[in-house]
Amino acid sequence: MLSYEDLQQGLEAAGQTHILQFWSELSEEERGSFLQELSQLDLKGLKDHCEGAQRAAESPPESLDQHIEPVPAGSIGSVRKSDRKGLREWEDEGLLQISQNRVGVLLLAGGQGTRLGVQYPKGMYNVGLPSGKTLYQIQAERIHRVQQLAERRHGSRCTVPWYIMTSEFTLTPTQKFFQENNHFGLKPSDVIMFEQRMIPAVTFEGKVILQGKGKIAMAPDGNGGLYQALVDNAVLEDMKKRGVEYLHVYCVDNILVKMADPVFVGFCVSRGADCGAKVVEKACPAEPVGVVCRVQGVTQVVEYSEIKPETAELREPGGELVFRAGNICNHFFTRSFLQDVAEKFKDQLKQHVALKKVPFVDLCGNQVKPTKPNGIKMEKFVFDVFPFSRNFVAFEVLREDEFSPLKNADGAPSDSPTTARNSLLNQHCRWAVAAGATLTDEQGNNVPASTSVSAGDVPPARCEISPLVSYFGEDLDQMLRGRTLQSPFILDEKKARELQAQ
Ligand code: UTP
Repeated sequence: MLSYEDLQQGLEAAGQTHILQFWSELSEEERGSFLQELSQLDLKGLKDHCEGAQRAAESPPESLDQHIEPVPAGSIGSVRKSDRKGLREWEDEGLLQISQNRVGVLLLAGGQGTRLGVQYPKGMYNVGLPSGKTLYQIQAERIHRVQQLAERRHGSRCTVPWYIMTSEFTLTPTQKFFQENNHFGLKPSDVIMFEQRMIPAVTFEGKVILQGKGKIAMAPDGNGGLYQALVDNAVLEDMKKRGVEYLHVYCVDNILVKMADPVFVGFCVSRGADCGAKVVEKACPAEPVGVVCRVQGVTQVVEYSEIKPETAELREPGGELVFRAGNICNHFFTRSFLQDVAEKFKDQLKQHVALKKVPFVDLCGNQVKPTKPNGIKMEKFVFDVFPFSRNFVAFEVLREDEFSPLKNADGAPSDSPTTARNSLLNQHCRWAVAAGATLTDEQGNNVPASTSVSAGDVPPARCEISPLVSYFGEDLDQMLRGRTLQSPFILDEKKARELQAQ
């Protein structure tokens, strides 16, 4: 821990002495914990951080219209445009890699989930499915099932280790939640949690914000903090020890995420890619999602704000949007690519500016809750390593099957608990009907087969299929063909055994 004098000197050099303005008012204990917190700051980098944040917030977003082009068709795979044979070959390759313990999954779960507005990590959220499962439980069960599928296809027992990046906000409650739930039946040593770094929030004048008299406002350094966190926590060494060569990285909030997706992994591996991104076709030109494309020949994600509406609206002769590859934060990396990033590139990652309302103490020591943005949080994004890839591929998947994020509280028109729940139930209704079942409502009246693909649509029935029974619609025919399923219907392992025995 630093001494008060060292700290004062460091802060003076960084132009941040205001941080200690209430020192004399702090108790002995408060001083101790403040000193501890400040000792963890990178004092040498603080000046650059604050000045950089101020500069970045002042500069208008760059317009990239003149320089962008879509990812070349040869580097894109597509579920919609592939035949069953091609998809099956990729799936085989993916399952083979999984069966040989060469695939891991990495969850980005360090975010604060401010838009959803709950006080606990988003993964612990229950969107109101008939089973009451949380996002973490759904994901754990998909790991169980994909291991089982790989074992069945290739006859060898295997493990998909689950790396979970947390932050100061999410680590302890996530650990506790997993312990209380017996790690959802996974081996605790195969669930590896680690913490990303935090960085100070800064005012528009480039001053670190004091959240309390003895506390500065800190925020996680964005999901691109992953690359520093991999180094800080020796995660790549752990992967190496286990023989994991491929990593599937994903966000906590996509209820439809196919963890370690064999088709995606198999596609990337068979193309010899070092880095890959799943994308979905943009719903409309104005949809505010990042687009995977090339800028002056270099692959990157361009934010909606960085291109003009005319560019976003450009269409190909067949009518598809030219820039349609919507990024869904679902990535493939080889371990050797991550090693390269860790060794050579991680300090070159772009910094993004987020303007936020950050509670603070004013000069008189009063606590203030701002009503408009007053602070800058600098964030790195996980996709900002794309430019360093030597062989990048994109893989277009169907939105209704693979992407429905939970971002907002109920009441919002999109990406809410209701839309996430509906997406999953609609998908499961489609699977049940495809397997030959008839669905009925609570009163026993037949309901039409679901053709619904929109996240907002109310599902025709409440039919939920446990990931422990089916990962992506497989194996259901023998259980469900010719059966009538009355809503609410939950197909869990017990029910599956009963149906198979009949
Ligand atoms: P979002 O940018 O949607 O942020 O994160 P969020 O924290 O979930 O929600 P808001 O913006 O505060 O409402 C996308 C993914 O990146 C992770 C999140 O946990 C989520 O899985 N993330 C975000 C991190 O792991 N670390 C961060 O610093 C930020």
